[in-house]
Amino acid sequence: MKVLLIGSGGREHAIALKISQSKNLQSLYCLPGNPGTENIATNIYLDLSNHQQIINFCIKEGINFVIIGPEKPLVDGLSDALRKSGIKVFGPSKKAARIESSKVFAKNIMAKANVSTAKYCEFDIKDYDKALKYILEINFPLVIKADGLAAGKGVIICANINDAKQALKQIFEDKIFDDSGNKIIIEEFMDGEEASVFAITDGENFICLPAAQDHKRIGDGDSGKNTGGMGAYAPAPIVDNELMQKIENDIIKPVLKQMKDSDNEFSGCLYAGLMIKDSIPKVVEFNCRFGDPETQVVLPIIEGDFLDLLFSTASGNLNKDAVKYNGGCAVCIVAASKGYPDDYKKGFEINGLDKNDDDIIIYHAGTKKINDKTVTNGGRVLGVTAVLDKNDLKLARHKVYNAISKINFEGMYYRKDIAQKAFKYFKQ
Ligand code: AMP
Ligand code: GLY
Repeated sequence: MKVLLIGSGGREHAIALKISQSKNLQSLYCLPGNPGTENIATNIYLDLSNHQQIINFCIKEGINFVIIGPEKPLVDGLSDALRKSGIKVFGPSKKAARIESSKVFAKNIMAKANVSTAKYCEFDIKDYDKALKYILEINFPLVIKADGLAAGKGVIICANINDAKQALKQIFEDKIFDDSGNKIIIEEFMDGEEASVFAITDGENFICLPAAQDHKRIGDGDSGKNTGGMGAYAPAPIVDNELMQKIENDIIKPVLKQMKDSDNEFSGCLYAGLMIKDSIPKVVEFNCRFGDPETQVVLPIIEGDFLDLLFSTASGNLNKDAVKYNGGCAVCIVAASKGYPDDYKKGFEINGLDKNDDDIIIYHAGTKKINDKTVTNGGRVLGVTAVLDKNDLKLARHKVYNAISKINFEGMYYRKDIAQKAFKYFKQ
């Protein structure tokens, strides 16, 4: 099979690495990929917004399968354009991708499917006054979210009325989320611990991969601003078998049915971001694609043919037995540029990339090659990941922190407490 993978992050490096192990893979192209995918695929450069150019490339190269990593091309309808040209695609239609691109759409689907989530109210930019009035009447903390896409950063948690007033001003007046914030939702704050579950679905049937836990905030102890994700581990012990059953039956199944019944059939990876308290899962958000950095820890702990899983899904005939959990564990720490998730500088040389053991994978994300040097080129630069074939998160955590200590670039920042939350579930 000839495959084109769209995207340039750590998630795409992880997907490329996993499918490069498939015996069914003949050749792999990444658009645009990154210095990490360069060694396992052919990186190509095309304008992502020019769908026809991508279709022409696929036809010319005889590509039979396209995997779309990030949300943006899905939301822009790339999967629809490719499908219309007869090319198989892993990733939902533009219509179905609204489960991520519009929080209001997602909330409506959940309400109709009777799925547990935070209570909310929606406001248009024209209703600024109404939103101001509303925050006087409800309890704190509360959460204000841009309706549209904002790279995982369109959420402001407000401890009090002043925070909420400032957030409304920033979104509606200062337009910090651009037009993504023309509509907002104000929702109740959910207490608990988060987990991410990927459901791979052909629209009707699905399988869930092992649960992961991301670390969304920039600072240790979950402090500071929200980011795209600062580190992850899998499997997340908070999601035991019983809870996974609940997530499948009470969340994934009814949402997929509601999507289908409302003519928004979802095929691809439905990412459920969950808040769990007392073993009761509530939905924080849905994404229409694999999570980043969760993919970097979930894929190394499944065995089987991942490419077959994705291709069978895209063919409308999900092979539920294509992969299974391998009994291992993985911990990924994101090395970020100083200043992220706000402004940061790029172009610093990265040292120590070749100094690690076999059980360490260094996923590239915001990196670039200049001659023989690798330099920083984004906010989240690397995902340093330890992978073990036994489920010993403590050992994996020890190994990954040892590994990251060998890598450096100017302004390198990473959290020191990734995976620590897992330990309370283990007997001493
Ligand atoms: P979202 O973009 O909706 O996933 O939100 C990003 C992050 O904000 C989540 O992963 C949570 O950490 C936090 N968050 C969002 N909504 C809520 C909520 N209602 N209660 C508590 N935390 C939330
Ligand atoms: N790690 C969070 C996300 O992919 O949206």
